[in-house]
Amino acid sequence: MAAQLIKGTEVSKAIREELKQEVQHIKEKYGVTPGLVTILVGEDPASQSYVRAKQKAAHDLGFYSVQDDRPADISEDELLKLIDQYNKDPKIDGILVQLPLPKHINETKVLYAIDPSKDVDAFHPFNVGKLMIGEPDFLPCTPAGIQELLVRSGVETSGAEVVVVGRSNIVGKPIAVMLMQKGPGANATVTVCHTRTRDVTFHTKRADILIVAAGVTEYVKGDWIKPGAVVIDVGVNEVGRTADGKRILKGDVAFDEAKEVASMITPVPGGVGPMTITMLMKNTVRACKIHHN
Ligand code: GUN
Repeated sequence: MAAQLIKGTEVSKAIREELKQEVQHIKEKYGVTPGLVTILVGEDPASQSYVRAKQKAAHDLGFYSVQDDRPADISEDELLKLIDQYNKDPKIDGILVQLPLPKHINETKVLYAIDPSKDVDAFHPFNVGKLMIGEPDFLPCTPAGIQELLVRSGVETSGAEVVVVGRSNIVGKPIAVMLMQKGPGANATVTVCHTRTRDVTFHTKRADILIVAAGVTEYVKGDWIKPGAVVIDVGVNEVGRTADGKRILKGDVAFDEAKEVASMITPVPGGVGPMTITMLMKNTVRACKIHHN
């Protein structure tokens, strides 16, 4: 049996259509346009490509968007001043500082400097705390994308055994918190596995919903998965380049094996990836509404 594909590209398109309507509505009601600035420090090719995709999405939705690229040797002070400038700019609703930052810059300090009402990544401790108590203004983008995929694919999360592989601040921890909350698209029993977990397959084999954000190419094998489980693969691992220079991506799940066992699975690329950017756009629209309501 081959699993049904959860197509993030299609779900993402549908949400962006909804957002377009919302942007139109905001323009008519408040006379404003959601504004997003992306700050990219340095010239890392992967970061450049992510930021380009974010800018394109913002542009396509009719946002006011600013791409602010800075050299890798910008000082921490200069970067903090720049953030302060955008904190005060009424045209800007969302500030995104692309990570990772060069080593001489303290990432935590930078994330703390962003006005929490413009923190569309939801990385500021204020927003992390609000998420933890079940009162988020913004959901972190990749976990929000995963939850949307589950809900829009009709996956029952209430009472489900969810196993998350990975404990990062960006994906593992927040998706675990979100799915254990009370409410629709949640109410799950969540287990989080990580590099020190004693017997990871004991846990993965029990999962009704298996979410893998391990950062290791094809880490999860087909026989780690319970037959009929829903598999969400958050991995984005570049394993090579095509003759014309395009990145060849693989997930954290051995897809060909997993699709024979799972009932539903996200492909890589075209699964979780496109959802992350769409959720960033959703957060920017939300920030605009918060600022103008
Ligand atoms: N680098 C990798 N993923 C992300 C993300 O979601 N947001 C930001 N700002 N940087 C990233």
